[in-house]
Amino acid sequence: MTGDGRPPLRAGLIGCGGISGNHLAGYRLVDQAELVACCDVIAEKAEDFARRAGIEAAYTDYQEMLTREDLDMVDICAVDEVHAEIAIAALQAGKHALIEKPLAMSAEEGQAIIAAARESGCKAMCAQSLRWQPKWRAIKQLIDDGRIGRPVYVRFSGPSTPFWTPDQIDAYRDRPAEWLLIHNGMHAFDLMAWLLDSLPVRVHARSHPGQEWLPVHEYVSCVTRFENGAIAHTEQNRIMQPPRYPLGNEIYVVGTQGTLDKTDRLTYTTSLYNDDGFRLLDAGSTYGLDDPDMPFACEIREFARAVIDDTEVPIPLETSLRVLKAVLAGAESMKTGEAVAIDA
Ligand SMILES: NC(=O)c1ccc[n+]([C@@H]2O[C@H](COP(=O)([O-])OP(=O)(O)OC[C@H]3O[C@@H](n4cnc5c(N)ncnc54)[C@H](O)[C@@H]3O)[C@@H](O)[C@H]2O)c1
Repeated sequence: MTGDGRPPLRAGLIGCGGISGNHLAGYRLVDQAELVACCDVIAEKAEDFARRAGIEAAYTDYQEMLTREDLDMVDICAVDEVHAEIAIAALQAGKHALIEKPLAMSAEEGQAIIAAARESGCKAMCAQSLRWQPKWRAIKQLIDDGRIGRPVYVRFSGPSTPFWTPDQIDAYRDRPAEWLLIHNGMHAFDLMAWLLDSLPVRVHARSHPGQEWLPVHEYVSCVTRFENGAIAHTEQNRIMQPPRYPLGNEIYVVGTQGTLDKTDRLTYTTSLYNDDGFRLLDAGSTYGLDDPDMPFACEIREFARAVIDDTEVPIPLETSLRVLKAVLAGAESMKTGEAVAIDA
């Protein structure tokens, strides 16, 4: 039961791969939604997830799962390329949809999700877990508190251990050069839009293929202009790190009255410089999967609350569509070498 005695939403999770475990941990911490079914095209994965979640119903066909009348919402954790198809089918079946990033693979697909949500009267949201990570919440709070004035420039980098090894080639052979930018850039671009409180309007990208045998470009650097004039420089970097190099981010935010600087790499520090001088801050870097406010619990909880209370979801679909258009503009810029304006 939710805090005010209303029943939780009954959720079906689709795509029982890597990230589904984090979502499962989230449901364990949330009163507003409970898992009642799951689905994966690979039966063993669906069955294993069902076992771990303590639920009976494991499907291999999401359409079949959608016929369940007792299902209120779906949580789409399947591979990027099927997000839109599943979200639209779920909305048309009268189910609310929480959709892992990226929202979709094209602007047309994103628009079709918005249309399906509008027509069905159901809610949908692209799950951007970074918005609920303690370290980004701390940075956002410092900005919103006016500690650096108005932010005008952000540099963000997300280096990590190489994602791909030759034995994984089957998974990546058919994915194009710009796939990493769409797959993970949606995180970075959404974070920038949130921190800068503005939407992207123009992107200029440069990329590097990384490894000869891999079509996906593993390094992508984008300079993005926002409606309010701010500029963000974002890097997706999956190359040139030794194996097991720690996953971490660096961010440098310049405001009209100060700067914020955060690095996970080596030192895990956050610093603030403004009129009051320079100081190191304790701005939470890590979280545990059993922390009640861990990001996946927060995004599920806040989405479910919006459904139950019939209020706006925390990340409107229109924002995610613009963010998607920004990464697609970056993908086009990777090919042409020219800056690309975003069709708002
Ligand atoms: N928010 C985050 O921090 C975060 C982190 C990792 C991944 N993700 C996103 O989550 C999604 C899944 O990522 P992952 O790392 O778990 O991938 P994964 O490849 O480990 O799992 C995806 C699963 O989807 C299943 N699947 C594919 N098509 C399906 C279909 N039509 N119906 C049902 N199941 C289907 C696959 O069999 C697989 O088990 C991706 O879109 C990714 O972008 C988000």
